[in-house]
Amino acid sequence: MKLVIAGDHASPALKRSLIHHLRGRGHEVEDLGTDGEASVDYPDYAAVACKAVLDGRAERAVLICGTGIGISIAANKIAGIRCGLAHSPDTGRLAWEHNRAQVLAIGARVLDATAASATVDAWLDARADEGPRHLNRIGKIAALETPCSTGSKA
Ligand code: RB5
Repeated sequence: MKLVIAGDHASPALKRSLIHHLRGRGHEVEDLGTDGEASVDYPDYAAVACKAVLDGRAERAVLICGTGIGISIAANKIAGIRCGLAHSPDTGRLAWEHNRAQVLAIGARVLDATAASATVDAWLDARADEGPRHLNRIGKIAALETPCSTGSKA
């Protein structure tokens, strides 16, 4: 699968290890930075990776910050993106099966390299659950992106 991976200054060591692991599994992985320890802002990295997915340059994106929280919040502000924050193989798998999250966020200060690889593998290997309840909920998520989706008449 064609993937992009990006993260802030908390991410480089884990990102390098994940890229090595994923390429070893046959994935094509484009590294969108950052590469150093200089402080950067995770929304910028969420934006560039999510844009690559929306443009079709990659099928999916992996995002990394210290906790995974900030970068997942940023990604989920981008219309068309469903970003799941995962911390285990089960949450990685369910992010695809139930939520069809084409972007996965993980925390470099939460998962070590082995746990991160297992989490991302589970997400990539999962098969989407086509059950109508999941598709219905994904449709409702998309509807929240439109300005008049809150139901408020005000
Ligand atoms: C950066 O120090 C840290 O705030 C960031 O990596 C992330 O954990 C934010 O959610």
